[in-house]
Amino acid sequence: MKHLIDSENLNLDEINYLINSAQDIINNPIKYEDSCKRKILATLFYEPSTRTRLSFESAMLSLGGNYLGFHSSSSSSAMKGESIADTIRTVNAYSDIIAIRHPKEGSALVASQYSKIPVINAGDGGHQHPTQTLTDLLTITKTKGRLNNLRIAFCGDLKFGRTVHSLIKALSLYENNKIYLISPDELKIPNYLKEEVLIKKNIEFVETSSLEEYMHEFDILYMTRVQRERFFNEEDYVRLKDSYILTNAKLNTAKKDLGILHPLPRLNEISLEVDNDERAKYFEQVANGKFIRMALILRLLEV
Ligand code: NCD
Repeated sequence: MKHLIDSENLNLDEINYLINSAQDIINNPIKYEDSCKRKILATLFYEPSTRTRLSFESAMLSLGGNYLGFHSSSSSSAMKGESIADTIRTVNAYSDIIAIRHPKEGSALVASQYSKIPVINAGDGGHQHPTQTLTDLLTITKTKGRLNNLRIAFCGDLKFGRTVHSLIKALSLYENNKIYLISPDELKIPNYLKEEVLIKKNIEFVETSSLEEYMHEFDILYMTRVQRERFFNEEDYVRLKDSYILTNAKLNTAKKDLGILHPLPRLNEISLEVDNDERAKYFEQVANGKFIRMALILRLLEV
């Protein structure tokens, strides 16, 4: 693996290696404190971010390296009309590894084609977000002890939610998982994922608009935000944004050992009262995001 652009770049061995490495980092942080000495990570963020960018930067600092970059397109030469290709060739002169987030689908792939140093996709439009997927896989592993034989529900914006697209692809590598796709009609999962991943790989799945109907069956419930920035009109967003709100009452029928995940940011889709439920794992998920990115940086820099 030279770059990480799509969760398709990950196979079972690679995921195992990264999860084990992240767990070793969690247990022995001191061992890694100089691993990336004199290495520089560039964080090129053309779209807003809190967790992804800060966890990448914190990861690099905890490995003894450094970072540089920009956190909005308006503060880079993209504002003057510079292409991604030229920006990437420039950043190659100043850093050792790149994490890029961009509103256009396919932008990270283009970046990797012009880069001699590793490129990590930190989110390309409504397409993919593979490092969130690694975060989610680590969190599921820590919560359930496995990545197979699970009943995993995705709820909310399955059309534009890139974290959902990436995670479903990665989960398709594991045996005997059942997937529940919960969304309003307008926000169903894209057909290409249904056909090329779920159907093609013979994965059992159900599509429903009800969050409650199968609640008692879930091992993992992955809530998502309705992706306002990808909507064509505000009216549709307003109509759909509160389609699902997870409350304590709705969790009454859920398993005692359910794991509730959310890539965050959360708006209304998980009510605050749920934060105190021990099944809520989304803040632990935030912490895992740093450790798995440390593992990924080490792997791609081969240090
Ligand atoms: C997600 C993203 O950017 O796709 N956030 C994240 O990286 N943790 C989810 C979202 O924005 O809703």
